[in-house]
Amino acid sequence: MTKLAILEFPDPRLRTRAEPVTEFDAALQQLAENMLETMYSAPGIGLAATQVDVHRRLLVADVSQDNDSPHVLVNPQILTAEGTEVTEEGCLSVPGVFDEVERSERIRVRAQDVNGRTFEMDADGLLAVCIQHEIDHLNGKLFVDYLSELKRSKIRKKLDKERRQRAADAGSLRPQVPAL
Ligand code: NI
Repeated sequence: MTKLAILEFPDPRLRTRAEPVTEFDAALQQLAENMLETMYSAPGIGLAATQVDVHRRLLVADVSQDNDSPHVLVNPQILTAEGTEVTEEGCLSVPGVFDEVERSERIRVRAQDVNGRTFEMDADGLLAVCIQHEIDHLNGKLFVDYLSELKRSKIRKKLDKERRQRAADAGSLRPQVPAL
């Protein structure tokens, strides 16, 4: 399995609307496995293909304590949604940022598995929040889009600063080579 690189806000590729999956082949199975591996090692509870720069409608999720209940949803569709709940959310593409978002409390979802078989599932609580968050990714939407423009611009500045700091740290560790 391979750990994949995760795109970070405000990378414009995160705004891509993913296309439906039409080929249920070994490459799709491999992608789902790599996405699970990437999500577990991050660590995170959900990951959409969009976040690893693959613009196909596929998401993985596992909200269990022991990382033993993986869900792989291909071409997911929310059939019904009921109630509302406000949860503090984070996102692997917006590292270190958490804020409250209102979502549906209970959802019924239709999706396909990696072999193309259609199934339906009910989700509530954290799993329902997670699936809605990941489907947003497939539509090019991020949880920070639910926040005010002021908050979003602060987040952008904070992440820019952290990225510059990481680049500077990496630079100071690099052996000095003569410039040519
Ligand atoms: Ni996310």
